[in-house]
Amino acid sequence: MKNSPYLLSVTLATLAVLSAPVMAKGKLNVLCSTDTDWCSLMETTFEKETGIKVSLIRKSSGESYAQLRAEAKNPKIDIWWGGTGDPHLQAAAEELTQVYKPKALSELRDWAQNQAKVSGYRTVGIYAGALGFGYNEKLLSAKGLAAPKCWKDLADPKYKGEVQVANPNSSGTSYTALATFVQMMGEDQAFDFLSKLHKNINQYTKSGSAPIKAAANGETAIGITFIHDIVKQVKKGYPVKAVAPCEGTGYEVGSMSIVKGARHLKEAKMWADFALRPDIQTMAAQAKAFQVPSNKSATTPEGAPDFSKIKLIDYDFAKYGSAATRKHLLQRWDADIKSLPR
Ligand code: G6P
Repeated sequence: MKNSPYLLSVTLATLAVLSAPVMAKGKLNVLCSTDTDWCSLMETTFEKETGIKVSLIRKSSGESYAQLRAEAKNPKIDIWWGGTGDPHLQAAAEELTQVYKPKALSELRDWAQNQAKVSGYRTVGIYAGALGFGYNEKLLSAKGLAAPKCWKDLADPKYKGEVQVANPNSSGTSYTALATFVQMMGEDQAFDFLSKLHKNINQYTKSGSAPIKAAANGETAIGITFIHDIVKQVKKGYPVKAVAPCEGTGYEVGSMSIVKGARHLKEAKMWADFALRPDIQTMAAQAKAFQVPSNKSATTPEGAPDFSKIKLIDYDFAKYGSAATRKHLLQRWDADIKSLPR
């Protein structure tokens, strides 16, 4: 009786009926390139609101782009949310992502709509952030070192071994830095600056925000990251200070793209519309994400860097977001900088 096949099939049928509504709500595979706190908040909020089961992994922007390229014939990811805009543009140019005009497109700030236009609507801006650097004040003063104010200061031999930045191959933050230096100084001068900076670098990390987390923990004196990532550490109570470099700086348009051939396309479009809603963008502050949101009706978190007070360059997203420029700059960085002795 206990093992009756009849009972077993009735039980299985009952289970199937009971679980049917849950299963019918679908699945979504998300690649997330913001900081993990914000990734998790988005994941749980979307799941709660829609009943859709989200499977999310965090990878840096350059790594995410590489994954989409590698999986182009058999995509496992449905939507790529967050990370610097350049690799999203590169993915768009290679048609690794697909055209979608989200419902809130007209509600977005110009820089977010431009990102969509430049890509033929294969990506869209979700936030913006300016590049800078931060330092651990206690550590610097204990070492008797003055606080740096400008990019050129970071190459001063007195900071030997004191600076950390990510590897531009894996990290969108670091690629933004590389593209920023080239736009501000000209390519040859930028590589000359990078070769001097290299002598001061203690580690090239995989993720873009790792250097400022290391500075907060006293593992490096200076970290090159987005300014909002420094604000996060300040708000957490660490003795770090943010610097908007005196010469001016570049910025990112953090982006979102639906993967071409996504298996869960309907759910991916739902996530895209969800992610651009003002209430959802306003929620970022709960995860201590201090970027400027792309929806004009979203509230910019208190403490977010004030763009009107930062000297921003006219970042050429079309050029530095092209696959050819990326390939060229990264090859030159690998050949001319990474292999240099320190
Ligand atoms: C941090 C920043 C984001 C940025 C991302 C890029 O999470 O808060 O604004 O888009 O870094 O990450 P990556 O590891 O590619 O530099």
